[in-house]
Amino acid sequence: MAQATLRVSRGGPEGAEAVEYRVPVAPGMVVLDALHYIQGHLAPDLAVRWNCKAGTCGSCSAEVNGRPRLTCKTRLDALPLDKPIVVSPMKAFPVIKDLVTDVSWNYRVNRRIPPFSPAPDVKWKMYQEDVDRVQEFRKCIECFLCQNVCHVLRDHDKKDSFGGPRFFVRVAALEMHPLDGLSRTKLGIGLCNITKCCTEVCPEDIHITDNAIIPLKERVVDDFYDPLTRLWRKFSGAKSDKAGKKA
Ligand code: SF4
Ligand code: SF4
Ligand code: FES
Repeated sequence: MAQATLRVSRGGPEGAEAVEYRVPVAPGMVVLDALHYIQGHLAPDLAVRWNCKAGTCGSCSAEVNGRPRLTCKTRLDALPLDKPIVVSPMKAFPVIKDLVTDVSWNYRVNRRIPPFSPAPDVKWKMYQEDVDRVQEFRKCIECFLCQNVCHVLRDHDKKDSFGGPRFFVRVAALEMHPLDGLSRTKLGIGLCNITKCCTEVCPEDIHITDNAIIPLKERVVDDFYDPLTRLWRKFSGAKSDKAGKKA
């Protein structure tokens, strides 16, 4: 039977080292299967977060050969097996143990975003095109791979001033909802320089930059720099840019 070598990061906040394990490769195996083999046969104390093993819970996020991935969706036969497969925790978040990171900061950002709030005189009718526009954003499984790859968080650790692509997706879904009446904080979106790295790693193929971030940036510009919008706000007394929403 073919064998693979996994070089797995072991350790906690105090420091980590890479430990190699040899794993038999069965047809269809994914990296999470290999980690489970290690847990079952070689290192029962290996810490791995997972739940569904079906690409839907978003728990098993890690870095495989340096790329942020769901380990349950990364097949061994798609990786070069002639050298060790390097598995490490998401770099943007503090390590708790081995491959498990503390992603609780994301939930704190999420709590800052006001939920759907219908406009006072809303007519409860939506067109299919409006449903289609926000449907894409609802596919997010909160794996936080996009947060992990974004250089603003990963390299510059701007967690105090930047919400990150996952939450731009959430804000976009609310801002583009035609029945919603609030204008939400844009969570430091000006720091995003549209590198599209977040879109490239999203396992749900959400077009994060094109469909969420760029429209949000346009709304920020409309809100603060467009003279007609400013005039409209001044004379109508409106606090938000909801006039810019597609009605
Ligand atoms: S496009 Fe923006 S949010 Fe996405 S990874 Fe690049 S800087 Fe971060
Ligand atoms: S937008 Fe995509 S990459 Fe980001 S958390 Fe959601 S599913 Fe994961
Ligand atoms: S275990 Fe649920 S997404 Fe991988």
